[in-house]
Amino acid sequence: MKITYTTADGVPQPVETEPGMSLMEAAVLNGVDGIVAECGGGCSCATCHVYLDQGWCDTFDEPAPEESSLLEFLDGVEPNSRLSCQLLLRPDHDGLCVRTPASQG
Ligand code: FES
Repeated sequence: MKITYTTADGVPQPVETEPGMSLMEAAVLNGVDGIVAECGGGCSCATCHVYLDQGWCDTFDEPAPEESSLLEFLDGVEPNSRLSCQLLLRPDHDGLCVRTPASQG
């Protein structure tokens, strides 16, 4: 399945990955720029922030309270902001497009 992470400068970074991993893991394994993931997926660092492209927001569950409270204090948060370590990829996420913020954390 294909996921595209587009940088804040508009550079698309397409990767091939497998369902079952998180959107953060798929980025880190493929050396995507713009995802730091300092805490390794523990939902405590907020350096895996992404913006989901329009149309994809409803394909993931609502953020859990831990994710929401981290997002609350992040710079540059938008309604489509999520922490990518909390987003598990399913087969129907093939073609997913997200943007990474200009800086993380
Ligand atoms: S990797 Fe740390 S919050 Fe997502």
